[in-house]
Amino acid sequence: MNSSSSQRVLSGMRPTGQLHLGHFHGVLKNWLTLQHEYKCYFFVADWHALTTEYDNTSTVSQHVWDMVIDWLAVGINPSEATLFIQSKVPEHAELHLLLSMFTPLSWLERVPTYKDQQQKLQNKDLSTYGFLGYPLLQSADILIYKAGLVPVGEDQVAHIEFTRELARRFNHLYGREADFEDKVNEAIRKIGKKNAKIYKDLRKRYQEQGDNEALNTAQALVEAQQNVSLGDKKRLFGYLEGETKTILPEPEPLLTPVSKMPGLDGQKMSKSYHNTIALRESPTMVENKIRTMPTDPARIRRTDPGDPERCPVWQFHKIYSNQEVQTWVPAGCRSAGIGCLECKQPVIESILAELTPIRERAQRYLENPEVVHSILNEGCDKARTVARETLEEVREVMGLFYR
Ligand code: TRP
Ligand code: SF4
Repeated sequence: MNSSSSQRVLSGMRPTGQLHLGHFHGVLKNWLTLQHEYKCYFFVADWHALTTEYDNTSTVSQHVWDMVIDWLAVGINPSEATLFIQSKVPEHAELHLLLSMFTPLSWLERVPTYKDQQQKLQNKDLSTYGFLGYPLLQSADILIYKAGLVPVGEDQVAHIEFTRELARRFNHLYGREADFEDKVNEAIRKIGKKNAKIYKDLRKRYQEQGDNEALNTAQALVEAQQNVSLGDKKRLFGYLEGETKTILPEPEPLLTPVSKMPGLDGQKMSKSYHNTIALRESPTMVENKIRTMPTDPARIRRTDPGDPERCPVWQFHKIYSNQEVQTWVPAGCRSAGIGCLECKQPVIESILAELTPIRERAQRYLENPEVVHSILNEGCDKARTVARETLEEVREVMGLFYR
């Protein structure tokens, strides 16, 4: 991995519409930190949405729009991170096509999400070409930016592993000039008999025994040659470490810690469970939702003692409350000293405090859609420049080069 790509972070999100607290405490907070530390590329994976939602595409663009507004509203900063929409960078599709030429079907069929999702979404016909190829599309998303790090959840790690295998296969197939061997031998002749012997011995020691010192010495030897061209030096370096040149670097997953944010009912917060608090939820709705949130089922009357461990409200306190409140809740709950509404009040206040600035920022973007459009246009342009560069290189090594 070279240093410029190891600093490049790329992540995509399917357009699901307005985001909620689960997204914020899981993915988005992570992105907020990453954008200061790396060159980040964050994109809306709208084509990925079509792999499962091809029969209902009427909401895609609104979902994209709402999601981007929420990214901006939480503080994803377009002057730090590049934000774009996948389908606006059609280079992803060309790379996807080119990669498909040498992607074994069996690799796609054994990606765990393939069968899992088909099982889960039985009401949909997912025996499609697009759905089978979805991990490959994801690989194209990653490889086209030569991203070194990909923040993903546990469920996506297999896709990164798949991408690594694919990059390896690509480099093996195309990461070498047609007449590399001849050219290397020519270059070796140019460094003189004595040096050539030392070079070959050192290479052997490195390749057969993994002797790193031998590699260092050999590299220094090549570096010191004055009679060879830059191209030849590159070949001599390349030949030392194996024969292939890394064109597409292998990405590493950057595991996003699992969000501790449960839904209102204590299950995972998810739109399909109807247990979310949206980032743009109105204060009245936030208050209503928390006030009607289930508590320890054993606490039927105000005088019944409760157990915080059986209550989803307590999980919210663990995220939102300070030490003092976190002592007050279990004591008051177990002794029936406090009522549930009383207990919920600090949670309501903390969530409102967290969401008010987000909602206000979202409102400003909603009122100025041209600002969002120009952020996305600029992001797409930036992404395309990088994507085109990679694609040029890929086309060339795959033999598609016409003058
Ligand atoms: N497949 C990812 C998901 O469903 C989204 C995604 C698409 C992605 N392309 C990506 C994530 C590239 C990381 C990198 O969540
Ligand atoms: Fe839950 Fe608080 Fe009620 Fe206890 S007092 S059951 S922790 S809401």
